[in-house]
Formats: sequence, C-alpha cells, structure tokens
Amino acid sequence: MSLTENNLLVVDENDEFIDQAKRLFDGRLPTARTINDALAAMESGQLRMVILGPSFAREEALGGVKQLRLQDPTLISLIVAESVTANLLRAAMRAGVSDVIEAPLTEEKIEQAITQFSSDMLKLRSAAEARAEGASDRGRVITVMSAKGGSGKTVTATNLGVLLAREPGTKVCLVDADLQFGDVCLVLQLEPKFTVVNAAAELHRLDQQLIDSLLTPHPSGLKVLAAPLEPAFADDITTAGLLQIVEVLRSMFDYVIIDTASMMDELLLSLLETSDQILMVVDMDLPSVKNAKLALETLRLLKFPTNKVSLVLNRSNAKARLDDREIEGALKSEIQARIPSDGSVAASVNEGRPVVESAPKSKVAKGFEEVAEVVLGRPLESTSGRSRMRRK
Ligand SMILES: Nc1ncnc2c1ncn2[C@@H]1O[C@H](COP(=O)(O)OP(=O)(O)O)[C@@H](O)[C@H]1O
Ligand SMILES: [Mg+2]
Repeated sequence: MSLTENNLLVVDENDEFIDQAKRLFDGRLPTARTINDALAAMESGQLRMVILGPSFAREEALGGVKQLRLQDPTLISLIVAESVTANLLRAAMRAGVSDVIEAPLTEEKIEQAITQFSSDMLKLRSAAEARAEGASDRGRVITVMSAKGGSGKTVTATNLGVLLAREPGTKVCLVDADLQFGDVCLVLQLEPKFTVVNAAAELHRLDQQLIDSLLTPHPSGLKVLAAPLEPAFADDITTAGLLQIVEVLRSMFDYVIIDTASMMDELLLSLLETSDQILMVVDMDLPSVKNAKLALETLRLLKFPTNKVSLVLNRSNAKARLDDREIEGALKSEIQARIPSDGSVAASVNEGRPVVESAPKSKVAKGFEEVAEVVLGRPLESTSGRSRMRRK
C-alpha cells in the first residue's frame, strides 16, 4: 500500500503532533482534531490508515477510536504514545487498534506497521484461498434457526455439538450468534473468559491461534465461541466480521455449529448463505408452523437453495399434536428428525448439562442423536448411537 494524502489521516487535538506528522509528509497531509471529524473524513471511502496522536493514548479515549474500526473493519489505525505500557496496548487491541508505536513518529515506524498489517492480511487471504482449493479441509457449517423464539434452537445446537464432539477424531465448535440474548454458555454451564466481541475486535489479525485462545472448552471436547455478555455489545459485531470469524473457524474444525436468534435479519441470511446445512427447528404448534412456512417462502423468494434446509420437529409428541403429513405439506419439505417433549430437557437446562449427557438413554436424547445423524449423513459411532442402530 502506498500512502498518499488521499488515504491517510492524522488525528490529534494537539498542534505539536500534527505539525510533526506534517513535516514527515512534506506538509501535504490531511488532519483532523476529533474522532467525529475522522469519521466524517472516512465517508469518502478512500481512507486506508489513520494515525492517532498521543491525546488518544489513554484508555478513556479508546472508545471513540473503536468507532473508526466499526465503521470500516479494514482500516489500519496506529496510535502514537509517549510511552507504550502493557495496559495501554491491551486496551488498544480491544478497541481494534492495529498497533501502538512509541513517539516520535518516523517514516520507518509507519512503514513497519503497514508491513506487519499487510502480511497479516495476506496470511488471512491465502488461508482462505487454500481452503477454497482443498474443499476437504473446510469444515461444515451447520446453522440452527427457527422462525419463532423458544422453539428449541439452543437445546438442539448444544446437544448436537456434544454428540458430534464425541465422534472419534471430530473437532466441533459451537458459535453463539444469538448476539443479544445468547445462552449457550448458560445451558452448558460455561463461564467464558472471552466472547465473540473479542474476536470481532481483532479481525485484522484473526488467525487460528488467536481465535483458539478466545474459545471456551466444554468437558465434552466441544469448543464454544460465546455470545456477548451484554445485549449492547452486539452492536460491536458486524455481519462481515462474524463471517470472517466463521471462515477461520471452518479452517480449524470439522463442524462449526451456529446457534442463532429468531430473527430473519441480514446477519442470519448471510450465515445461511455461508452454511452447508441449515437445521430449521419447528415447534409442534400452529404459530411455529406458520412462521416456518413464512420463513421458507422468504428463502425461496430470495432464490435461496432450500435443499440445504433440514426440518427438525421439536416436541414431536406434544399433546395438541399436529399431523406430520400436514406439517410437511404446509412446509413443502420432509421432516428429517423428531425430538419428543420431555421434562428432563428443562431440568438439564437448569442444571447446565445437556440431556445427551444427563439422560443419554432417554427418548429425547435419541431425538438429538437423530439430528446428529442427519448432520453426519451416517449413524453415530458413539455407544448410544450403535444401540439406536440396533433398535432399527
Ligand atoms: N423437546 C423439548 N422438551 C421439553 N422442553 C423443551 C424441549 N425443547 C425445548 N424445551 C424447552 O424450551 C425452552 C426454550 O428452548 P431453547 O432451546 O432455549 O429455544 P430457542 O433457542 O429456540 O429460543 C428450553 O429452556 C427448554 O426447557
Ligand atoms: Mg436460543
């Protein structure tokens, strides 16, 4: 990347720093005083790099800096600090800053930062290309969706994750993409140190190693990328950012399961687009079937390949039973797996243990095994799976 006055901006409240930076660039250098001015300058779409002066090298000032990255996740941002402390560095990384360099600013330091950034980007791109070539290295992305809340997405995603992780030599990651009210960690009794928010703040240097350090392991072997800890943090995550995270995960795991919110928004549609398989969980009641029908019709309208969608019927033994055939007729699609209703599910949720672990012999656990077999396209190898096959 070559720096010109079109793609570089220097921001600081302080004249001294601005003058010093200008001297480096023979005076031809756009400058701004505040983050708001910088955001306005970004509107041109040409800006590639922002150099922030020492007045931003304070934790309190980094919230504003973060907005730059939110507006353009590919923007390179450097902070020039009088002294670079570990605390400042950590806070800056959290805000998505590409690098913190020590004053005084020199041409060499800028070049160095750019080289580092470009090589990180290149690594990412070549990893993506390598994956595209060797499709067998790409894990399968399975998105669990439903058109109505409380349908059983999270119980399905968590039990499925644990079952797949039990398969010999199978690496499985579960992403909680219910960004506002994700409860995967609650249901699995996990206390995440990091969440998808941390991953989204590091997009410019997100590689396998970094993302692995942000995952929360479950005793079953399943790894979880946790949802934000507070609904407001969901704003920090862009669709492009989440897709990039999924791409890296897909290069690391055999299966990437994505639990979602019940909202047909841009995020969900993009996740569906990138998925190899979609499990649409339909609860056994009329509103659920109606909404599933609407959702499927929307997908068909969008020319979405609905053959990627597998219907999973939840609470299949509910008292107010709808007829399976009627449901299939209404949805113009075949039910691929059935999960019965069972009090042990609520108990397992409260206990923080998936029902395939707490009650592996129950009918409801068998239902989740059916879901896992739909995903695997073959019977499970784990013990209870074999017994299920024998029953057949
Ligand atoms: N098959 C089932 N049998 C009994 N209860 C269930 C079943 N599936 C889901 N539930 C209950 O419904 C609640 C909502 O399920 P959840 O997976 O959180 O839905 P979603 O993620 O789609 O909003 C859970 O807390 C669970 O107790
Ligand atoms: Mg849920």
